[in-house]
Amino acid sequence: MPHTITLIYGDGIGPEVVQSAVDVIEAAGVKVTWLPRLLGLSAVDKCHDAVPTETIDTIKMTKVALKGPTTTPIGCGHRSANVVLRKELDLYACIRPVKSIANVSTRFPDVDIVIVRENTEGLYAGPEAELMPGVVVSFRVMSAKGCERIAKAAFQYAHKFNRKKVAVAHKANILKLGDGLLLNAARKVHKEYPDIALSENIIDSLAMNLVCDPARFDVIFTENMFGDIISDLCAGLVGGLGLVPGANMGDQCAVFEAVHGSAPDIAQQDVANPCAMIQSGVMMLKYVGEHEAAVRIEKALLCVLEEKPLRTRDLGGQSGTKSFTKNVIGRL
Ligand code: NAI
Ligand code: MG
Repeated sequence: MPHTITLIYGDGIGPEVVQSAVDVIEAAGVKVTWLPRLLGLSAVDKCHDAVPTETIDTIKMTKVALKGPTTTPIGCGHRSANVVLRKELDLYACIRPVKSIANVSTRFPDVDIVIVRENTEGLYAGPEAELMPGVVVSFRVMSAKGCERIAKAAFQYAHKFNRKKVAVAHKANILKLGDGLLLNAARKVHKEYPDIALSENIIDSLAMNLVCDPARFDVIFTENMFGDIISDLCAGLVGGLGLVPGANMGDQCAVFEAVHGSAPDIAQQDVANPCAMIQSGVMMLKYVGEHEAAVRIEKALLCVLEEKPLRTRDLGGQSGTKSFTKNVIGRL
């Protein structure tokens, strides 16, 4: 039986890197019926809606989606399709594994961090309003339920993958109520996992420790915006945004996508690094039970990355998106 999976090409470099992931998955022999749907700027252009109902309904039906990045206008225009999608599908846990790659992540060769970012609350979920001309409030929504389920997701992940340390990143010294909830949830859930160590980290100090000694961290969980920021920071530790995949997980659906955005500065030039998108596909294959193919793709990818000239330009190589993809397929 083929898998039925929603496919969102997205904007900017999205179509290039998503095609790369699709080509690799199909070349690995996995049978998929892809249901392409629109989201983001391309959806606004075609149907005047950044998050068409058809796209949401299709993901609810297939339960799984592979998604390219979408463009959100800055300071104006439509609401982020990502924020709406994650809320509509209640994809509350964003799992982002950040791992050094031999000879590629030369600055820090021993990073192995998993970021578990809360995806539905915080500043991104709250409304903004102009109180009077020149004065704006942005609401940061935190709930005990939301904090507890992200804490659970972090500890469950650590338990499942035999990881020994969970760090909660917070700012409860200033945001005593909101991040107080997060801290309480961490302490409460930790009681169920006595074999896993919990450390409590104020976010700014965590940021410094991450860039000085990232190897000391294992699983890190935090609220929405902090998780967004440290995801890109951690990507930088191992070689850049072109490498880090992710999964937006809910209790019903899962949407797999890279950490990076639509990178309009390099769109349609055949230079985007498809690794993060291919690795998001690998995470998806493991999720749908295609473990063997997932491992084979991962090995082929690492094999190509070993040879510097075969890498894409962001990693100092000479390959384009298409030729890189062809090389990965060649090594399957
Ligand atoms: P970005 O992640 O798109 O790009 C940041 C920098 O990294 C750029 O210089 C870009 O060229 C480079 N880069 C990113 N991915 C790359 C890849 N695969 N290969 C090589 N280089 C890569 O972030 P930026 O520029 O802040 O945002 C651009 C747009 O993307 C915005 O509209 C933003 O809202 C959206 N965005 C969407 C996300 C999503 O759909 N999940 C996530 C982050 C941003
Ligand atoms: Mg981000």
